[in-house]
Amino acid sequence: MAGALIWTSLCVTFVILAFNTAWTFQTKQPNIVFVLTDDQDVVLFGQQPMPKTHKLLTEQGILFKNMFVSSPLCCPSRASILSGQFVHNHNTHNNSALGGCSGPAWQNQVEPKAFVTYLKAEGYRTFFAGKYLNQYGFKRTGGVEHVPPGWDEWHGLVGNSVYYNYSLSVNGVEEKHGNNYTEDYLTDVIHHRGLEFLSQQSERHPFFMMLSTPSCHAPFTPAPQYEKEFQNEKAPRTKSFNVHGKDKHWLVEAAATPMADDVINLVDNNYRQRHRTLLSVDDMVEGVYNKLKAMDLLDNTYIFFSSDNGFHLGQFSLPNDKRQPYEFDIRVPLIVRGPGIKPNTTSEESVTNVDLAPTFVDLSGSKGQPHQFDGMSFARILHSETHQFRSTVLVEYYGEEADKVPECPQFNGQHLEGCYKRFHCICQDSKNNTYGCIRYDNSKESFKFCEFQDTANTIEVYDLKADPDELTNIAKTAPPQLLSKLTDKLAKLSLCKGKGCHDNTDL
Ligand SMILES: *[C@@H]1O[C@H](CO)[C@@H](O)[C@H](O)[C@H]1NC(C)=O
Ligand SMILES: *[C@@H]1O[C@H](CO)[C@@H](O)[C@H](O)[C@H]1NC(C)=O
Ligand SMILES: *[C@@H]1O[C@H](CO)[C@@H](O)[C@H](O)[C@H]1NC(C)=O
Ligand SMILES: *[C@@H]1O[C@H](CO)[C@@H](O)[C@H](O)[C@H]1NC(C)=O
Ligand SMILES: *[C@@H]1O[C@H](CO)[C@@H](O)[C@H](O)[C@H]1NC(C)=O
Repeated sequence: MAGALIWTSLCVTFVILAFNTAWTFQTKQPNIVFVLTDDQDVVLFGQQPMPKTHKLLTEQGILFKNMFVSSPLCCPSRASILSGQFVHNHNTHNNSALGGCSGPAWQNQVEPKAFVTYLKAEGYRTFFAGKYLNQYGFKRTGGVEHVPPGWDEWHGLVGNSVYYNYSLSVNGVEEKHGNNYTEDYLTDVIHHRGLEFLSQQSERHPFFMMLSTPSCHAPFTPAPQYEKEFQNEKAPRTKSFNVHGKDKHWLVEAAATPMADDVINLVDNNYRQRHRTLLSVDDMVEGVYNKLKAMDLLDNTYIFFSSDNGFHLGQFSLPNDKRQPYEFDIRVPLIVRGPGIKPNTTSEESVTNVDLAPTFVDLSGSKGQPHQFDGMSFARILHSETHQFRSTVLVEYYGEEADKVPECPQFNGQHLEGCYKRFHCICQDSKNNTYGCIRYDNSKESFKFCEFQDTANTIEVYDLKADPDELTNIAKTAPPQLLSKLTDKLAKLSLCKGKGCHDNTDL
């Protein structure tokens, strides 16, 4: 009896060992590089504003034509990318520490379960350089000593995007930078630190590298060699450019149409400057690609490219910002190249930035997904398995306000923000620019449905198939049955958690 038992368990052990070894050989963990830009939209810039990125990533990989963000503002969106959660679950509501951005609740409860900690547990070497969360590194948020868990090598920017005159936390120690292009231009610093990290890697350990650039966020400072590019470009005159946003929520209706000539000049100049800053990102993508190739690591490395939110320049006469629920502010690029991805392909599936964390964890070989992730892995789409991934994307936004708006003091105490003289005091945000939206798309029909928390209980509804520019709010004319289905879907998703957020049902 005893002999038989030992023999059986030996056999089982042997089988498990053999299976494990075979599995390890067959599925080598891939490396992952994630390039995240700041404020890069798709509606105005299009899918290919950077020629090298287009050639090396898009033409060699898959372009997602329908990638959206959970919130059209830096800190909430970045919190979603890192946590795999919607705003109502990670509770980073706005760009200030009080609103959760790198605040105590984030640092104690959410950040310790960010996707990178799971990659670390799978044996990855992890590297971060660039902008993290807008409030990172200040005294009030724990200073530069706070290095988020899971990162082996950390070069985190203190505060919000800039190109010169900043501090980095280099593994918890402050490193100050001035304004010498060669030594300090932040996109290039991120580029060079990334290459240094890559030169220490080998096939023996998988790695995850996140390069998070200030481009193309304000103050839109291009590298000196690119200052003269695109002299003839203008901000695209989309169908909603310089058009009054009638039947929309208060903030949009308040914007004066037509915009003044000097505002339009500024808008065009900002478009050119934004585009120029992306040329340094393009160089970085090429540098990383060439380095991986030279080190023979390219074939086992995924390169992801995305942005934290979109941007508008004159749409509905709003001069220069994000924060709105329209396509121009919530649509961002997503391009992926890597093992098993067919070159030069596109996907029409709707994906959202909470899906990035589960996808990274899935690709790392981890069994199962952390239960708190609201997103879903889109690895199957990367590997050409077509299936309807999700029908509904949730967008949540909490409007910001300031007691005082110094450049436009007539608006002090009015719950407004982002009011500047150069834009003729057309404010870009207000406390009641607070909303929840769903974007529904089952390929036959597509709607956007938004509820605002304002005194008018404003509802905006767009038939995106008939009206992709969102010119006509059909809240008052749409069939009641459609509205009630959309209302229910939004109500359900606004409270969802984990798997409950995986909505792939038709209306
Ligand atoms: C950086 O700081 C230097 C020295 O204070 C200043 O002259 C320069 O204008 C600043 N540059 C930028 C882009 O902020
Ligand atoms: C900028 O840095 C480079 C490289 O370190 C150096 O050669 C150059 O002298 C610096 N320029 C200025 C104006 O300090
Ligand atoms: C990629 O696809 C596009 C559109 O189908 C085509 O025009 C282009 O030539 C292709 N590029 C490459 C490098 O195959
Ligand atoms: C951010 O959110 C917090 C908490 O909801 C709020 O107190 C604060 O006023 C908001 N910040 C801005 C700039 O609106
Ligand atoms: C929105 O807020 C502004 C500024 O506080 C106020 O003037 C306006 O009446 C509000 N509108 C709605 C619909 O709540």
